[in-house]
Amino acid sequence: MSNQKTLSIIKPDAVKAGHVDSINLMIENSGLKILEKKEIKLSKEEAQQFYAVHSDKPFYNELCEFMTSGPIIVQMIEGENAIELYRKVMGATNPAEADENTIRKKFATSIQENAVHGSDSEDNALKELNFFFKDI
Ligand code: CMP
Repeated sequence: MSNQKTLSIIKPDAVKAGHVDSINLMIENSGLKILEKKEIKLSKEEAQQFYAVHSDKPFYNELCEFMTSGPIIVQMIEGENAIELYRKVMGATNPAEADENTIRKKFATSIQENAVHGSDSEDNALKELNFFFKDI
C-alpha cells in the first residue's frame, strides 16, 4: 500500500442532477482527501483527447458528446491506495453491476451516464491528472 493521487471526474449527468456534494461526501467518508477541485466544460477536442484510448469503441462519439454536454467537476484525490480505493467507491462501470453503497449504484443512470470517472492505474492517474492539473 502506498500513498497515491488519482483523478476523479464528476460527469455532466451527476452535476446536472445536483449530486456533487453527496458524491464528494462518499469520497471523503472512504478516507480519501480531495486536494484540488474545479468546475470546467470540456471542448469536443479535449473530450476526444481524454478518451482517445476508446477511439475504436462503438460508443466513442456518443461518449464525447455526453462529456461535453454540460459542466464537469475534475478533482485530484489522495490517500492510501487511492486508485483502487476510489474505484471501489465508484462501483462497476455499468450501474446494473455496481455494488450497493457505491456512487454508480446510487447516482448512475446508464453504462454511459455513469456519474463519475476514476483513473485505472498509476500510469493513467499521472497522465489524467496532468491533463487537468498541470503542476503536479
Ligand atoms: P469511464 O470510467 O469514464 O471510462 C470510459 C467511459 O465510457 C465509461 O466510464 C462510460 O461512461 C463509457 N462507456 C463504457 N462502456 C460503455 C458502453 N458499453 N456503452 C456506452 N458507454 C460506455
